[in-house]
Amino acid sequence: MTAILGISAYYHDSAAALVIDGTIVAAAQEERFTRKKHDQAFPANAIRYCLAEAGLSIADLDHVAFYDKPLLKFERLLETYLAFAPAGFSSFVRAMPLWLGQKLYLPRELRKGLEGQYRGRYIFTEHHESHAASAFFPSPFEEAAFMTLDGVGEWATASWGVGRGNRIELRGELRFPHSLGLLYSAFTYYCGFKVNSGEYKLMGLAPYGEPRYADLILNNLLDLKEDGSFRMDMSYFNYCQGLTMTSKKFDALFGGPPRGPETRIDDRHFDIAASIQKVTEEVMLRMTRHVRRETGMKNLCLAGGVALNCVGNGRVLREGPFENLWIQPAAGDAGGALGAALFVWHQLLENPRSVGSTDSQFGSLLGPHYTDHEIRSFLEGTGAAVWHEYASDDSLCDAVAGLLAGEKVIGWFQGRMEFGPRALGGRSILGDARSRQMQSTMNLKIKFRESFRPFAPSVLAERGSDYFEMRRTDESPYMLLVAPVLEHQRLPIDGADVGLKGIDKLKVPRSKIPAITHVDYSARVQTVDAKRHGRYRRLIEKFDQKTGCPILINTSFNVRGEPIVCTPADAYRCFLATNMDALVLENFVLLKEEQPNAVDIDVEAYLAQFQLN
Ligand SMILES: [Fe+2]
Repeated sequence: MTAILGISAYYHDSAAALVIDGTIVAAAQEERFTRKKHDQAFPANAIRYCLAEAGLSIADLDHVAFYDKPLLKFERLLETYLAFAPAGFSSFVRAMPLWLGQKLYLPRELRKGLEGQYRGRYIFTEHHESHAASAFFPSPFEEAAFMTLDGVGEWATASWGVGRGNRIELRGELRFPHSLGLLYSAFTYYCGFKVNSGEYKLMGLAPYGEPRYADLILNNLLDLKEDGSFRMDMSYFNYCQGLTMTSKKFDALFGGPPRGPETRIDDRHFDIAASIQKVTEEVMLRMTRHVRRETGMKNLCLAGGVALNCVGNGRVLREGPFENLWIQPAAGDAGGALGAALFVWHQLLENPRSVGSTDSQFGSLLGPHYTDHEIRSFLEGTGAAVWHEYASDDSLCDAVAGLLAGEKVIGWFQGRMEFGPRALGGRSILGDARSRQMQSTMNLKIKFRESFRPFAPSVLAERGSDYFEMRRTDESPYMLLVAPVLEHQRLPIDGADVGLKGIDKLKVPRSKIPAITHVDYSARVQTVDAKRHGRYRRLIEKFDQKTGCPILINTSFNVRGEPIVCTPADAYRCFLATNMDALVLENFVLLKEEQPNAVDIDVEAYLAQFQLN
């Protein structure tokens, strides 16, 4: 038996992944255990969990791999500093203590983190190698092209190449400071959102605007080549030398200073979001065509933070030259831990790789699970919880589907926790997609946020093409593709949105499934199949039998700024603090109206624990 632990840490989204004889046994992000979103600390809890899942201890590990090369990254920092000195001094000074104290002495830090129990060598894979490995090795393809796109690792900001059997081969890369991820983050910053987490919000704003700044971006900020490579004019940016993303020159070009956090969003921000989204999609499509020409492959794998841009992914699938697309669900740096471990097993140890009919990511349900026994003990321990226990899968799904059809909002906690930023039916909040009020009810009373995004739909896999513009065979098990709602599912607007501005437009129902339809008729689809999603699928089937609608709203089980819940205790607390109607913990169902003795949770205090993103 060969056990390989992959680690990503010290940048954002620390994580651990355990691969035993080539099989992904466990993977989890540190934030889920520490309850600190995007936690970048050494993933001690995630490692402890991965080992426990396999019944191993640290001393049993054969190899430990870290997802990037600290010395190369240090070199980039140093060279960037020298190139921009003295302007870069402030960011240099801020970065150095961390580097000198921690990152440069990574083996020492890792030894400490692993309590001196691991005696082998540490393997450092390159950042984009880790992303590429996470994209190709778990994919359902014997051979495929891969593309990785993110902010920056050591030097590379994008890479592409070919995966065949048990090997990946890098053929091209784009280097810092020219970076699609950092370009997108610069606009995220400019529009008043937090870099490395607010990118989703920017993408959600785009459908409200017109891309009237797209040419301005293409004519000034970057020189985009036919092959998708580009050079940025660094005088508009400040991330090499300062502590902000954009420069004064950038502000002047877009007509004002960056928007302050939590201040009003106006038409200009919607238009800027639409513009950078359009440019991003254009870069992705050009790169895709280039990679297809150069490799001749018909399959494409994606990873890196930019691969979470599901609007761009949808266009790559529909308009790009590849026949099939697979995207690593933990596309950001958390997934680097998994890639590093798989890279060691296949590429370095030269073990063969077998490809099945589906991918080998196991639905990305790779985190902790809890037995009925553990859940009952927890519920009894609260001294207040009142619950119903269901004896069979059938009776449970029937009861919960009934609640959903009655427009109840359900906290759904089943099986193993998801690896990656999306909830996929393991730790989800569910609702009826046909309901006209559900979008605002769930945002205001459950998530405590005003959202520009509608919720995402989970649809029975074979019914996806009845509702969304996708082929019958297209899969989106990881909710990473946005597709338009089909014409015949749409409702006539008849001018109902005239005079409505910005996010108020979301209040006008645009389809028979309004809660999951964006103002431009797009939806971020998760297809749900029997193999990967067992009980979640049976719940949607029951809902379909009752209502004729094979679609549920699926949003992550958390409130604004909170990491997705991990344990029954996290879920119970979130259930009590919000206006959720019912909580389903495996076979146990708790109805809110039946919990008079539950402690009142101070909602404000609960929310205050979590930073705004
Ligand atoms: Fe990355």
